Amino acid sequence: MTLVTDVRLRRVLDSRGNPTVEADVLTESGGFGRAAAPSGASTGEYEAIERPANEAIAAARERAVPRLVGEAYAGNQREVDALLRAADGTDDFSEIGANSAVAISMAAAKAGADVLGAPLFQHLGGAFRGENFPIPLGNVVGGGEHATDATDIQEFLVAPVGAPNVADAVFANAAVHGEVADLLEERGVPSGKGDEGAWAPSIDDAEAFELVEHAVETVEADVGFEIGFGLDVAAAELYDADAGVYEYSDTTRDTDEQIDYIADLVAEYDLVYVEDPLDENDYEAFAELTDRVGERTLICGDDLFVTNTDRLAEGIEQGAANSILIKPNQIGTLTDAFDAIELATRNGYESVVSHRSGETEDTTIAHLAVATDAPYVKTGAVGGERTAKLNELIRIADDAT
Ligand code: PGA
Ligand code: ZN
Repeated sequence: MTLVTDVRLRRVLDSRGNPTVEADVLTESGGFGRAAAPSGASTGEYEAIERPANEAIAAARERAVPRLVGEAYAGNQREVDALLRAADGTDDFSEIGANSAVAISMAAAKAGADVLGAPLFQHLGGAFRGENFPIPLGNVVGGGEHATDATDIQEFLVAPVGAPNVADAVFANAAVHGEVADLLEERGVPSGKGDEGAWAPSIDDAEAFELVEHAVETVEADVGFEIGFGLDVAAAELYDADAGVYEYSDTTRDTDEQIDYIADLVAEYDLVYVEDPLDENDYEAFAELTDRVGERTLICGDDLFVTNTDRLAEGIEQGAANSILIKPNQIGTLTDAFDAIELATRNGYESVVSHRSGETEDTTIAHLAVATDAPYVKTGAVGGERTAKLNELIRIADDAT
């Protein structure tokens, strides 16, 4: 029933106005799945390779599509993804592009779900899926590679940990985002938005901390539940490997100073989540920081692990971080993403499913987060390609309860 009968690939727009790969997978009994690849800006050094969309499409049409059509069953994700890997023949999808691979992989999953008449989260998660729903991490202020002339820290995130349900959590994040705008206006600070829809004012990190803390307190008083504070430092982008220091606008910090700085921030702002606080090559420093604050917060590896089981295994070995960011396009297939989550879970690491800075209206990550019982899902707070995921989470919660 789920034998793949056609795979169609096309270029569509992403949220930065760049072309990205969209895939349609059709099956024998009329099953249909459509998915599009996202795209990063602060990409990790060890990510699978994204090729220009037209090249990725041409290469996938030549190498991968003939292997799938009439051969693969969309309901058998491991088979589809193994064929994609075999068709590519490299470790990093540099032939067909991780963008083509992930679009086809996700579209096949949706076609498999379609044939079953099941929502994607149910198809992916199965009957043993847990009852919990992921808490959306909302990016409310940011800079780094996502905006020019803004904060050094890439993302100031809010996490409505006390929200009674997904919808309240989603609205709380949007409310903090709105409150930040009001505070900026009161202070006469003009601000555009960064790639993920977060405010990107020309302020320093210290002011951003104060601003977000203030906005969180106001919204907490209003909604009556706890809203946590988190960060994506994206420290690899700040790190100067030659000098061995993290370069901030107003100062530099060596590795020990960076560890102290982050540990102090965790204590001062009671951070519930800290992503990529250190360089993507420095497992040792990650391990030291995890040792110091890992009991009270999630230290998450994004550029560090790039959804890659080999890199995660190394992290587990060294005690680096206690959670992993899951971005299917960093590794190329849903199977690889599931394997990373499984390895993480077996070793007591949490998995946090995430969008990219360049996104489409695709909602696969919302389903993936629910299917895998992720404690958090990173989706941004507002903006069409972000609200697509958030609204899907609300629908899934509505569906599943
Ligand atoms: P990216 O950023 O999608 O630009 O890589 C998101 C992140 O670092 O989490
Ligand atoms: Zn990140």
